[in-house]
Amino acid sequence: MKSLLKLMTEQLVESFEKCGYDASFAKVKVSDRPDLCEYQCNGAMAAAKQYKKAPIMIANDVVDTLKDNDMFKDVNAVMPGFININLSENFVADYINKISSDERFGYESEKNPKTIIIDYGGANVAKPLHVGHLRSAVIGESIKRILKYAGNNVVGDVHLGDWGLQMGLIITELKERQPELVYFDDSYTGEYPAEPPFTISELEEIYPCANAKSKEDDSFKERAHAATLKLQQGYAPYRALWKHILGVSIEDLKKNYGNLNVSFDLWKGESDADPYIPDMIEDLKTQGLLHESQGAMVVDVMEDTDTKEIPPCIVQKSDGAALYATSDLATLVQRKQDYNPDMVVYLADKRQEMHFTQVFRVAKKSGIIDEETKLIFNGFGTMNGKDGKPFKTRDGGVMRLENLISDINEAVFSKIMENRSVSEEEARNTSEIVGLSALKYGDLSNQASKDYVFDIDRFTSFEGNTGPYILYTIVRIKSILSKYVESGNNSDTDKISILPASGQSEKELMLQLCRYQEVMRTAAEELAPQKICAYIYDVSDSFNKFYHDTKILAEEDELKKAGYIRLIDVTKKVLESCINLLGFEAPDRM
Ligand code: ARG
Repeated sequence: MKSLLKLMTEQLVESFEKCGYDASFAKVKVSDRPDLCEYQCNGAMAAAKQYKKAPIMIANDVVDTLKDNDMFKDVNAVMPGFININLSENFVADYINKISSDERFGYESEKNPKTIIIDYGGANVAKPLHVGHLRSAVIGESIKRILKYAGNNVVGDVHLGDWGLQMGLIITELKERQPELVYFDDSYTGEYPAEPPFTISELEEIYPCANAKSKEDDSFKERAHAATLKLQQGYAPYRALWKHILGVSIEDLKKNYGNLNVSFDLWKGESDADPYIPDMIEDLKTQGLLHESQGAMVVDVMEDTDTKEIPPCIVQKSDGAALYATSDLATLVQRKQDYNPDMVVYLADKRQEMHFTQVFRVAKKSGIIDEETKLIFNGFGTMNGKDGKPFKTRDGGVMRLENLISDINEAVFSKIMENRSVSEEEARNTSEIVGLSALKYGDLSNQASKDYVFDIDRFTSFEGNTGPYILYTIVRIKSILSKYVESGNNSDTDKISILPASGQSEKELMLQLCRYQEVMRTAAEELAPQKICAYIYDVSDSFNKFYHDTKILAEEDELKKAGYIRLIDVTKKVLESCINLLGFEAPDRM
């Protein structure tokens, strides 16, 4: 379905052309001055130069041709040459009735779907999930949903860090603790045990301990490096141990991501790319792209237009070991082979920007990825505490995600208990749903590349630009709808028509709902969940103004009342569709 802006622009194009002006000046946009008009066209100002005429004359010419147009309530030329537009109530009602009967509210699915891989989550096996991984999961999940909803073929890959030094560290530490395990017995030839030799909590304790040791003890560090290399070269006992580390860790990760309402199509990791490395290195060599530098093998990626130094990309260390970049390049080889994607989007901390610049350049230069394939690094900023420094626990440690989530839920829980008389059990369940909205909306409503301050009090507030406020609006609508049904009305509002608005707040709500498809398109094009957040905040505000101005259930004219009910039902559906794209949902009460 054509958007309202498109429909208006088409009318203005006709008028501009009729008056002898170029169609390109006829663009209509939402008004910058909602106090004066709903929409505006500023083309007369730009046309003035080309036609050497006063802008107001051009605006007047155009406005004259629109006087009797049914679409508009009024169209005025205003000094110095603005064209101010208000839509007719009938036209808006007609349009909103049309989008209301469409499941996607007029938003059409991509005609040429693209294959898109989203690389997000990026948890490191055997290390606990911490808040640094939160943003990747939250933003990536939303972008994945937005692009899928747009009609693309989207594959979300968690891309675990499962192949690096942390594996060698864990193996080495385990060997010190339990040297009797068969994995450390060179002469052992039997099957390896099916049961892992550790639990997730033991594993989570082993890694930090090993990491600390490696910083103080050089020989420990060397042994860890050697173990990593041995693992990467396929040494069977270490492979068996590594599988256990992976198994135990992934089970726990799935639970944690599940709590965040985040799910992946693929559970691949750096290790999956490993088999592709030797051929890839060979290929780089044959193409003459690889050269030695201080013992390592590197690819130069500096370009003439660079204004700052872009160091060569190291693809192999002197001992033959693979690095982060090697694994990302080999992963691209694999992704190309398996999916031939049109676009790959990476969600990682923006401090990894240089890494991705290097990887993307090598990938394009070497033909691992075609020139047309888009490689996008969506680097996000840091989540800070109220002191403006990276978020920490009260005692200064790294905050675990589980604790962060339970802190938020607790804050919401006490708010619900303060205000209401619901059972404690219901309040607990509700606080989990609302807590997740607070957490996700708090993150997603910011532009991803910016740092943001994690402020539990603000995020969990039921008022202002927050997740709970949006949910509160939905819950309010749900309650009106169920009262309507309880008083004997049909719950199926599909056949009811929305009548032309009789008041300003009613019309504004309608106009907001009509914007849905434009917002969805922008969010998908710009990979920008924050556009959806801003939109639902506007919709919620408009609804609450309308609710304040209107006696919905007490309306005596049954047709009018039914129209209101239909309107708020659509409002609810639009909000629900949007929060689903953000990755959270609404409770029935709160
Ligand atoms: N595991 C990495 C980290 O914790 C993030 C992975 C991002 N994705 C990628 N393909 N490099 O920093």
